[in-house]
Amino acid sequence: MKDFKAKIEEHKKRFEKALSRAKDEKSLQEVRNAFMSRKRGELKLLFEELKTLKPEEKAAFGQMVNDLKIHIQEKIRARGELKVIKKESAVLKASSGKIDLTLPGQKEYWGSPHPISLFQQEIENIFIAMGYFIEDGPEIETDYYNFEALNFPPYHPARDDWDTLYITDDLLLRTHTSPVQIRAMEKRKPPIRIITPGKVYRRETPDPTHLPMFYQVEGLVVDEGITFAHLKGTLEHFLKTLFYEKIKIRFRPSFFPFTEPSAEIDIECTVCGGKNEECRVCGGSGWIEILGSGMVDPQVLKNVNIDPEKYSGFAFGLGIDRTAMSAFQIPDMRFFYENDLRFIRQFTLK
Ligand code: DAH
Repeated sequence: MKDFKAKIEEHKKRFEKALSRAKDEKSLQEVRNAFMSRKRGELKLLFEELKTLKPEEKAAFGQMVNDLKIHIQEKIRARGELKVIKKESAVLKASSGKIDLTLPGQKEYWGSPHPISLFQQEIENIFIAMGYFIEDGPEIETDYYNFEALNFPPYHPARDDWDTLYITDDLLLRTHTSPVQIRAMEKRKPPIRIITPGKVYRRETPDPTHLPMFYQVEGLVVDEGITFAHLKGTLEHFLKTLFYEKIKIRFRPSFFPFTEPSAEIDIECTVCGGKNEECRVCGGSGWIEILGSGMVDPQVLKNVNIDPEKYSGFAFGLGIDRTAMSAFQIPDMRFFYENDLRFIRQFTLK
């Protein structure tokens, strides 16, 4: 019994000595072969010899041989890993510090949705969470949907504020998303709860807050018992969610041919905070108009055969670009459409 134990000790000592002498990769490989070779390695021979012992000896010595095997494996692996680290530092040295292995890798730029599309999605998500449907409408509209059904009779002076490009006398590039209200009410019965995002066109000269083409999102709710309180609560909730509670809002009485009463909503100017009298975004007032709204005019409901005695509704139209300007604190709306990648890339999806 004692003999076998001594034998194991002897193997271990021989291994330590051989390992300490192995100075390069080749000699390390030789030590590995000498002790771990499956054919004639020293461990293999020890295991062979173990088989010849009596059963009670086998149990005791088996454990010891196994421990030795683990010891040898670990030592050899540790030496191997050390080699790899040394190799890497040799590469570093050779490159005289030009490679910094601690730097993160370089990401490829795969492109991303346009910032306005991203912002539109954010708006949609807030309304979807409140149970709204998304409705679409054509960008080329008829005079009827863009104006007449919305209570702008022909030659009404209010049309001037919504002037646009005409394709024929009757076909035009829509000036707002409001015509989709009419299309939706023709198709659906109350209760109606929709938003309709999309492009609109106006006869405008581009400046920091105006563009001849921009995005709006329209909202419409029609049901029994809808009041101005619903309008106010909904829009407040929407804007507080969109701006993470951080925005000041102001309701201001206004006029639209298709709503009565009507209100516009301004948000505080995030570019100057109302402190710059010459601010090109708010004109020094400290407020930016982003939204028109109101209670759907009974005449508009009649135009689509909805009984205004039974149903009421509220509607609103928000300028997406202007609101995005405030959300991202961008001083000029034209940046969105100049296709300067240095600008666009700041809004890549994280
Ligand atoms: N269509 C209006 C515009 O472009 C905005 C608007 C005002 C939409 C009031 C509405 C509304 O639905 O009720 O200026």
